Order: sequence, then C-alpha cells, then structure tokens
Amino acid sequence: MALAGESTGEIGYGVEVFTGIRPTGELTVANYLGAVVEVVGLQKEFEPVVFVADIHGLTDQDPGIVAEHKEEVVKDFLALGVDPERASIFMQSDILPELGATTLLLSRELTLNELTGVPTLKDQVNKAKLKEGKEGEDDPLSAKVMLGLYPVLMAADILAQRAHLVPVGKDQISHLELTRRLAERFNDRHSQTFPMPEAYVTDGDTEPLRILSLKGDGKMSKSERHTALFLADSPGVIEQKLRRAQTGPAGELTPHITSLSQIAKGLSTDTEVHQRVDDLIGEHMDGEPVMGTFKGVVTGVVNDFLADYRQAGERIAQDPGFVQDVLENGRGPAKERAAETLQAMQDALKL
Ligand code: TRP
Repeated sequence: MALAGESTGEIGYGVEVFTGIRPTGELTVANYLGAVVEVVGLQKEFEPVVFVADIHGLTDQDPGIVAEHKEEVVKDFLALGVDPERASIFMQSDILPELGATTLLLSRELTLNELTGVPTLKDQVNKAKLKEGKEGEDDPLSAKVMLGLYPVLMAADILAQRAHLVPVGKDQISHLELTRRLAERFNDRHSQTFPMPEAYVTDGDTEPLRILSLKGDGKMSKSERHTALFLADSPGVIEQKLRRAQTGPAGELTPHITSLSQIAKGLSTDTEVHQRVDDLIGEHMDGEPVMGTFKGVVTGVVNDFLADYRQAGERIAQDPGFVQDVLENGRGPAKERAAETLQAMQDALKL
C-alpha cells in the first residue's frame, strides 16, 4: 500500500472482470443473462470478482428483506456456475467503510444537475412511489438522497476494485458511463488514479441483451412476478408463463420474439437448439403459425437450464458452511484493493 503523502499515480487494474447483483428478491433469468453468464464464460480466462450489492439493496428495500436474500445471491452465483476456485465473491457491506468514503470523495466530481439527470433515477423514483402506495410521479427531487447516490455508490464499487470489464445488462449502461465520467474527471482534475472500466454487454457478435417482460412494455423485472421467469419457478409455472407470453403476428419480428430467442440461445449452448430457434423465426417471418412450437422450444430450454440450477443448489445446501467460507475468502482481497484505491484518492486530494 502507498504511504500517506506519497504520490502514487495510477495504480493499474485490480480486477479484470467484475459485477454485482442487488439482493432484492429471487433472481430472474434476466439477472443470469445480464451478467452472471458472462462471468461464467470469462472465468476460464480471468479470475472474476463478483459481489452482492446489499447496500444498494437498502435504497428501496426493507433491511429485513435484504438481510433475508443476501446469502441466497451467493448461493445463486455458485449454483449458476461461478467457480469459487477461479472467481471470488464478496458482500458489499463487508467493505462499507471503504465504499462509503470512496462514494463521498467521488461525489465531489458530480453536480446535482447531473445526478438528477441519470435516466434510471426517474424510473426508480416512480417505482418507489408506487410501492409506498403513492401516485407514481417522476420528480427526481422527491427521491431519498441514498437513491440519488445509487449511481455514485455503483461507481465506487467499480472504481474501488479498479475493475476493467464490467458485465451488466443493457439497463446499467448509463451507470457505467457515469462511472467512467467520474473516473476521468478525478484523473484530470487531481492525478491519474483510476484505470478506465468498460461495460461488457455482448460476447462480440450478438445484439446487446435486452430481456423483456413476457408481456407489455419494459424489461423483465423481479417486481412483476407474472411476466418474469424466476430461477425458483417450477417447470409448470415456466410453461404457463411462456404459454401466455406475448409474441407477434406472423411475418413480424417483434422485440418480444427477439427477447424470447435471446433467452433460449443464452440458456443453451446446444448449437442444434440455436439452429432450431433461428429456423422457427424464419418460418414465422414467412408467415407460418409457429409461435406455439417456438414457445415450446423456449420452455424446454429454460426448464433444462433450471433443472441443472436446482441440482447445483441442492449440492451447495448440503454443505452449510460453504457460503460463509466463500464470503470469507472474498472479503480480504476486496477490502485490500478498496483501501489501496482510497489511499490513492486521499493522496490525490491531499488529505
Ligand atoms: N446496479 C446494478 C443492478 O441493479 C447492481 C450493481 C451495483 C452493480 N453495483 C454494481 C453491477 C457494480 C455492476 C458493478 O443490476
């Protein structure tokens, strides 16, 4: 670690692949496809670090709900294929002092105007209001300060670990842009401290994933139970939800059809499945009524995937100390990197 007062300059990437999930309820297939699948793919080459964003969970959830779900997310990371021999997992609140200080110092580089202009904020304010039983209203100034700080804390997560590639869903891109802007400003105004993080949204040749709600507008969201596919859903429930899913008239490729196809392709590595999905979409475009068959294929893929996930979860549950051990291993290095980064920031700010 740098000595106090010593000018460190840029300290280089600390983590090659980094992402986090908020523990706000059971995870959906979209959570897996948005971030975890990339981590699982990249762990062959890199040693990723993933974390449970329990502090972020407090922005719009009861502490009790967050406490209840946070270890489940660790179990899910593991059951979804994050390999503790390659990757490490930590709990965000285990490094709360470092992240709190980093958030505070980063907030110096942002105006209130910019903060209230973050597109996700209006959405979140709206949802929070509806949850409290109030009329949905999107005035960002009515948000709690902690909700406003959400993106700054997220920037702190990423910059504290000096992360390079950050797998996220498309809805998080604006947060990544803000993170880069904060890093750039800090580097320019003070001293070169942060290496630049990059959003990792595609595997190179596919469209960025945008997994939609099974019906109606918007992305697949945990808060809309009937139009989201949960990892915990039984095969019967998955079948029923997909049977009712929105598609589109023959000859028309709607975003809902694309989303279903991304789900099937994302959850299966079987090239025959990929081919079958493409063929069915081709037939649909030729005007044939194949959407029932198409939904059947998607249902099969999702249920096969979830059967593996359930089996892995049962194995993990048989070893009650396992989740704690994994978190214990993740904590030290995450804390050390964050402390090192914070020291460099303090040096840059002459504190
Ligand atoms: N905001 C992210 C989400 O809702 C979760 C998150 C918090 C995150 N901090 C992060 C993701 C840092 C990646 C990196 O999905």
